Formats: sequence, structure tokens, C-alpha cells
Amino acid sequence: MPFTYHELRNLWLDFFKSKGHTEIPSASVLPENDPTVLFTTAGMQPLIPYLMGQKHPAGTRLTDIQKCVRTNDIADVGDASHLTFFQMMGNWSLGDYFKKEMVAWSFEFLTQKLGFKKEQLAVTCFAGDADAPRDDETAGYWKEQGLRDDQIFFCGKEDNWWGPAGQTGPCGPDTEMFIDNGQPKCGPDCKPGCHCGKYTEIWNDVFMQYNKTADGKYELLAQKNVDTGMGLERTLCFLNGIQDVYSTEMFSDTIKQLESLSGKKYDDDLKAFRKIADHLRASVFILGDDRGLTPSNTDQGYILRRLIRIAIRNMKKLGIEASELPNLAKTVIDRYAPDYPELERNKNFILEELTKEEKLFSRTLTTGLKEMDKVMANLKDKTIDGQTAFHLYDTYGFPLEFTQEIATENGLTVDVDGFNKCFEAHQALSRAGSEQKFKCGLSDHSVETTNLHSATHLLHAALRKVLGDEVAQKGSNITPERLRFDFSFGRKMTPEEIKQVEDLVNEAINKKMPITCEEMPLDKAIESGATALFKDRYDAELVKVYTMGDFSKEVCGGPHAANTGDLGHFKIKKEESSSAGVRRIKAILEK
Ligand code: ALA
Repeated sequence: MPFTYHELRNLWLDFFKSKGHTEIPSASVLPENDPTVLFTTAGMQPLIPYLMGQKHPAGTRLTDIQKCVRTNDIADVGDASHLTFFQMMGNWSLGDYFKKEMVAWSFEFLTQKLGFKKEQLAVTCFAGDADAPRDDETAGYWKEQGLRDDQIFFCGKEDNWWGPAGQTGPCGPDTEMFIDNGQPKCGPDCKPGCHCGKYTEIWNDVFMQYNKTADGKYELLAQKNVDTGMGLERTLCFLNGIQDVYSTEMFSDTIKQLESLSGKKYDDDLKAFRKIADHLRASVFILGDDRGLTPSNTDQGYILRRLIRIAIRNMKKLGIEASELPNLAKTVIDRYAPDYPELERNKNFILEELTKEEKLFSRTLTTGLKEMDKVMANLKDKTIDGQTAFHLYDTYGFPLEFTQEIATENGLTVDVDGFNKCFEAHQALSRAGSEQKFKCGLSDHSVETTNLHSATHLLHAALRKVLGDEVAQKGSNITPERLRFDFSFGRKMTPEEIKQVEDLVNEAINKKMPITCEEMPLDKAIESGATALFKDRYDAELVKVYTMGDFSKEVCGGPHAANTGDLGHFKIKKEESSSAGVRRIKAILEK
């Protein structure tokens, strides 16, 4: 193998570090401030505020390997190349270098680090239109590197413009790099982008100089940026001359494990092996994120549920017990934890959630499959109607794709539009419900709930004072009667510790400290010592910071009492295990 997974990662990061870039950690796969996307789909997404002009704390030259999830591709998983989760190697200039340097470094990396010959390269540049001029400048830089005219192609917006990631935001013309395998052209129109196999896309340099506005205009940005992306999995395949991404070392131990558990060979059922391997890896990364997202019936939680359940169904197909899911996950964690420490940190959570979801699904899977048999036996035509598919989802937890898989195996189809209509109606209802529940786990805005919410902040601070910094909030749920607070801590608290925490909270209440709120960017909030649930991101958005004297300072949406003196007497009613490594406290305020 000319390149291992780690060699490629290091080659990328070291190269850009040698060009003055700072390595930043991959941001979360769950974007916080963009309601139009469920997952992070490109390396630039978490950097949007900085592409727009805000100062990045790590400087103007950045590089990273970003965890990405593309949900559009889930249905295609099962072939040799599509993945739900992948890693994107990227580098950015935030108003620093521009086209000349980037073309020179791209050429240097491709020829000197990845070992391609100049003659193997083919590049495309933007042909120009009413929004932006033809990019002869970039083409000129490619020529300076020694590329011939017939290695340089010009294309329109469909091919040579990237972004914005959502509806609006930073975007610009790009130059894409392809490797030409030397075959003759398949026809007169054959050029980079043609799917005949002659050209393989390897890298994309975007010159992000424009901001697309809500009314479809392209405004010049205050600064000229560079945003590049190279898919790690795809490049590793290509460099090693492998057609099938599941045959690279990134999946080899999972495939081996599946072979030994099933007694079957990978070639016996490529689709099932690949779906399990992909869906499992994506689930491990989503669950392994510090946000603690769990399977549910809405938004990201539903995608996660779909991935896990389809993996289970394919395991069943191969004759593997669903209860093996956590064991399979351990293999994924072991492979990736050296580069993504959050997987090790959240290992217990990942394994527990997979076990919970597997148990939950196993309860309805058998009865659901019986119901499905009945449905299929009684069909008048060869289509399962939308309402029936929705019933299978709603009652037995069968995601649409799951029902579709079984239908296809039986020569049937599912009315997808009909299902989507039922599903959307249902989602709208439950979304309205969850908005009522409000952030911070509050069930309403009564005085009681608000006071208990403020008490939760005091409790959080007191726990950290008594038990140490290991304590981090994992969840909270507040009703007018009681608060419930989940936090990371490895063992049961002693009665003395519980009393100490209670006393500290009551002291803070008795001091009658004002509760104040201030708005600031998240990085400033963290700098000022505020506790925040999700620190792993650089974030431009203003957040609210609630301060209670010198006792507690926390990023939070509110609402809160005006003074700690309003709260009454704090009492812990219960301290128990919530899940591995997570404790749960239930507490009340007495008048
Ligand atoms: N943002 C660019 C892409 O995803 C680099 O291709």
C-alpha cells in the first residue's frame, strides 16, 4: 500500500502547517447555528462567520480534517463509493493568501507529496457569467506551474462554482483538480467531470469572495478567502488503486468482524456488509459527538435512528444477532479514537445508546415484521400505500427506507410521497410540541419552573466545587415540581458530598445575590470563565451569559429568577445512576 490512512492525514496537515497554517480540531458534526442543515457537510460550514469577516482566534491560515455527514447519500450506500460519514481535509485563507499561492501549493502537494505527474493533471476554471468574471487569472497560475492549455478547461456555474452551503452565505468560483488516467477521450465532449472513468476529481479550491444574499445577488465580501476540500476516504482509495472504499484499511477490521460473526464472506452480500459498515461508522461518530445526541423521531435524531435500524436489519440478514451492535461499535471506536478523542471520551454513551436503541427496536421488530407480512399478503396492487408505510413507522418504528428494503426484496414498491405527507404532518405536530418544551429542558415558564432553573445553575456550580471539573452537564429537565440534572461523574456521591452540595447551594441562596444576564460571543463567554455545554467550537453568535454573584456563570437561554434570594430552600431528593459515567440528581425547592 503506498499510503496508509494516517500517512495521508499527516501528509495533509504537515504540508499546510509548513505553509504557516494552524491546525484546528474538527468541529462538531451537528451544526449549531444553521437551521437549514442537519449535519456538517463541508469543512467550511463551521467557519462561515470567519469567511464573512469575523476574526478567527487561531489566525488567518487554518487547516483541519472535518467530520462530515451527508444525508443525501444514505440511499446510495451499498455501492462501492457512497458513504454517509466521511472526513474532509481542508485548508483556509481568511483574507490572507489567494489564487496564486493556492494554485502553487495545490500543484506542489499533488506532485511532490501525493506523487502525481504534471502530465496526469487536468484542471477546470470558472468560465465567467453575469455574476463573476472568467477566471483567466487562475488558469494563468496553472500555466505558470507548467500545465499545457489542453490540461485546462473552463466551465460554468454548474461545475465551477461552490456554495453557499445553505441558501445564503459565502461562495465563489473554484478550480477543480482531476487525475487523468491516460485513456483516450470517450467522445468529443469528454472533459473533466465526464463519468467515463478517464478523469477522477481529487480536490476543489474555492475562491470565496462572494456572499449570496437572500434575494439571489452576489455581493463582494470584505475579504478574499480560500476554502479547499479533499475527501480523505476517496483520495485514499484512489492513491492505493482501490475501487471499493470498504476495502481500504478504514473499514477492513469491521468487514472482518462481520465475516466472522456471520460465517459469510464480504462478496456474498456486498450491499448488506457495506450498509452495516457505513451506517455503524456514521452512528458511532454522531453518538460520539460531545452534544450527546440520541436516536429520536425528529431531525438529526431520526437520521441516527434510521442508520442504526437499517444496520440492525442488515445484520439480521447476515444472521448476526442485533445484540452484537455494541461489539461492532467498539471496533470502530478503537480505529478512530486516536484521531477523534471524543469517541473514547463518549465511549460508554455510544455503547449504551446503541444497546438501548437495539433493545427498543427488538421489541417491535418481530411483531412489525409479522404485520409487514400481513400487509404484503393483502396488497391489491404491488404498492404499499403511504399511510400503511407510516403506520409501520409510527407503530413498529420501521423507517421508510427499512420498509422499502423489505418491499424491494419482495418485488414491491412503497408510495414514498404518501409516506412523506403523513410524516411531515406528524413532524409538524411534534415540533410544535417540542418548541413548547423550550430549551434548557424547561416544561413551562412558571415562577416555580424558573426558580428551579436558577437552582439548577447553582447546583451545577456547587457540584463542580465539591466533585471537581470532571462534572459536566449532560442533561436537565425541569417541571414546576422538581428539577432533574444529569452530569458526568464516575461514581455514586457520598452522603457527605450530597450534604456539602446542598449546603453550598443554600448558602448561595441565602446571600441573596442578583442574577444578571449579559450577551457576548461564545468565545468571549468561555474566556470569561462561563460554563458552556459545547466548547469545542469557535462561535460568532451572541450567547446569553447568566451570572449569579461570584458563584455561578453559565451560558444559557434563560429565563431565570431576578435574585437567588427568591428561590427558597434547596433539597436534594435523590442521587442515582443515569447511565454509565452519568449521575442524576432530583431536587426541589421548599418554601
Ligand atoms: N467547500 C468545498 C467543497 O466542499 C471545498 O468541495
